[in-house]
Amino acid sequence: MSEAAKNFITPMTMQAVSGNPVHHQLFDCQAEAAMGHIELAKWADIILIAPATANSLSKIALGLADDLLSTLILASTAKLLIAPAMNQQMWANSAIMNNVEQLKKRNITIIGPEQGEQACGDIGFGRMSEPLQIVEQVLSLVNELGVSSIAERLKQTAPGLSGTGLSGTGLAGKSILITAGPTLEAIDPVRFISNHSSGKMGYALAQVAVAAGARVTLVSGPVSLKAPQGVSLTSVMSAKDMLDAVKQHVDNCDVFIGCAAVADYAPCEVAKQKIKKNDEEMQISLKRNTDILAWVAAQASRPFVVGFAAESQNVKEFARKKLINKKLDLICANDISQSSLGFNSEYNEILILNKNNQETKLPVASKINIAASILTEISLNL
Ligand code: C5P
Repeated sequence: MSEAAKNFITPMTMQAVSGNPVHHQLFDCQAEAAMGHIELAKWADIILIAPATANSLSKIALGLADDLLSTLILASTAKLLIAPAMNQQMWANSAIMNNVEQLKKRNITIIGPEQGEQACGDIGFGRMSEPLQIVEQVLSLVNELGVSSIAERLKQTAPGLSGTGLSGTGLAGKSILITAGPTLEAIDPVRFISNHSSGKMGYALAQVAVAAGARVTLVSGPVSLKAPQGVSLTSVMSAKDMLDAVKQHVDNCDVFIGCAAVADYAPCEVAKQKIKKNDEEMQISLKRNTDILAWVAAQASRPFVVGFAAESQNVKEFARKKLINKKLDLICANDISQSSLGFNSEYNEILILNKNNQETKLPVASKINIAASILTEISLNL
């Protein structure tokens, strides 16, 4: 971590979230004794700076070495990738453009930056590329360079993963079971009862969990999404099918995330033939479906259990009641009265509550980013 990085997040938090030691000082006797800057420079197969400030980028272009980061880069032969993030006017400045050209000539890969709204309110090129996009570039390099040490570490932390995992997070090697999408409760061969749910939130959680090095099983109701690479998918229709699939996969799993919009009731009887519309009114008797989330939480040997609560009013109060009644470890609540968020949207806004009465608000963000924050919160509470 550079000095600038430490203004945003402390080394202690970085260490807790990543599950790895954090290096940040050049002249620290203890750190140097454990793994000196030259050793670090030799150890790395690939070096990624994300986000890289205008200052770091320019120092590397010039070959300056006045902190740990710039010094170890100078002392390393590792492949270097830089994902810049800065104000759009700074990025457009000819001094920075010249430095970027210099870096590219030295075979250093520049990832992004992307166009969009910036922290300062400006709009333009300067936003750091999406983390998953950066991870994908690093991983394709891992395959390309055949970097054995990283590939080896990936295999150990996430067995069975086809090169999409990322080692070294608190979730690496953990087994995570996720339910997603709606369930369909048949009335007859043609009709069914269901809930609104695109499955996007559950699929985003699965995608990020795999990238974090976890082994992920996704039990999904019918959705029009493709399962993320590296995820083991079980497709189901009804709540009963979903419960059966969960029972089959829940043993030995470390985390269970109930993200599905499970139908609360199913018709008592499913008509074998299509029901004819002879009457002006008709009634269907419904019976309560088993609550899958509560069932998992009630098991003697249970994983860390995370639920969702889609509420249209009293969001926090109802979510807290669910957390307690269903004996959950964590609940992610969202307000469905905001029609631009939730269900079919690419975006979401979540309030996370844990059983110790702590709450974390995740402001509006893409579901991928929300998923990353939820998984970070899980790894901190595990
Ligand atoms: O009680 P409510 O349906 O609002 O709770 C929502 C949470 O419970 C979600 O995490 C959902 O996946 C889970 N759930 C379940 N099985 C049900 C109903 C809800 O797992 N039958």
